[in-house]
Amino acid sequence: MRLLIRGGRIIDPARGVDGRLDVLIEQGKIAQIGENIAAGETPVLDAAGLTVAPGLVDLHVHLREPGFEAKETVASGCAAAARGGVTTLVAMPNTRPATDCPELVALVREKAGPTGVNVLPAGAVTVGQRGERLTDFRALKAAGVPALTDDGVPIQNLALLRQAMREAAALDLPLLDHCEDRDMVRNYAVNEGAASVKLGLPGRPAVAEELQIMRDVMLAEDTGAHVHICHISTAKGVEIVRRAKARGVRVTCETCPQYFTLTEEEVLRQGAMARVNPPLRTQADVDGIRAGLADGAIDAIVTDHAPHTAEEKAKPLTDAPSGMVGLETSLALALTGLYHSGLLPLSRVLALMTASPAALLRLDKGTLAPGRDADLVLFDPDQEWTIDRTQFVSKGRNTPFHGRTVRGKVKYTISRGTIIYSPADANEPA
Ligand code: DOR
Ligand code: ZN
Repeated sequence: MRLLIRGGRIIDPARGVDGRLDVLIEQGKIAQIGENIAAGETPVLDAAGLTVAPGLVDLHVHLREPGFEAKETVASGCAAAARGGVTTLVAMPNTRPATDCPELVALVREKAGPTGVNVLPAGAVTVGQRGERLTDFRALKAAGVPALTDDGVPIQNLALLRQAMREAAALDLPLLDHCEDRDMVRNYAVNEGAASVKLGLPGRPAVAEELQIMRDVMLAEDTGAHVHICHISTAKGVEIVRRAKARGVRVTCETCPQYFTLTEEEVLRQGAMARVNPPLRTQADVDGIRAGLADGAIDAIVTDHAPHTAEEKAKPLTDAPSGMVGLETSLALALTGLYHSGLLPLSRVLALMTASPAALLRLDKGTLAPGRDADLVLFDPDQEWTIDRTQFVSKGRNTPFHGRTVRGKVKYTISRGTIIYSPADANEPA
């Protein structure tokens, strides 16, 4: 199987490549990148006007299977990934049962096989994500997990967390942590601030997140573990990570489009549709996240794709589950909010969604280097379109971005040399 991608703007941030070049794919690998590669008998994909980049690497996705198939399945989540240009994703373990043993890791991988998307299930830190007993990290690593996390359930017990970091460090497995002090945030629905006051509700304070980030930084320093802070949402949280990095602590972090685009005001407009953990914060926090993306304090843009059913999200704000889908909108929101706004060059936005997340977990992905898997996304960086949740292929339609006009549209997604999304699959006119 060969394919020649002709005439696109090739951007490979990992190698500093940015130019009008052709890409030759052979046997699922990048064979050659250069000018005017002869096609011969090779099928040609015309990429004129498109940007050609490594397939996106999303470190934070909830696929919901097993146990919550009404929200999403591995198959539907991977279809959404393909539509969004994502070729590699890390699946969170808060399924039922939780992904806390090699058998469940194998189950998720097996379901992902036919989708063409490279799904890496993360292993749970504690058995059943109950925060009581550590899982068998060695066995999970042998089963192929790239990292450990109890995401969805903050880890409260510090002795247990410290032990987890020691064991993770010994096995060289990163620990991805959802930072929010459980006693402070309970099941509250919104940020503690203007929105919670207006709604007359108790809120989730920023300091509940920042305390756990600080705690994690100190334990990372103490144990030598690589700690990765999930979906960072506050300006002060970013500053804590920035300073820790400057001291040489092995800490990294990620954020999501909602945290550099929306504020807590959105909950007043959209109710449960804008409910997410950590919650949408203030404009000062949005500014802090954007500054962190610009200066490298933040390492990656992820989705925290968290599908829920329409029935669940139709509940009152205080009862509805937290989370929003993101796989089908992340590239457009990143391009719109960070590139078209003039904050970051295109290659830098792409680095945050490809090379940088791949490097974090030491994945052999996120670059178009010859010899690597031919995972690519081809997109029109300028095309304007309106996000329409009724067109999503994810089972989850819970987005606060419905109706928003954005710029940047995925046209083709290629995984190991196979086209897994193309205009023919689009649910709307190209
Ligand atoms: O809003 C969220 N939803 N945050 C999380 O940490 C978990 C996720 C979910 O699983 O729905
Ligand atoms: Zn989380």
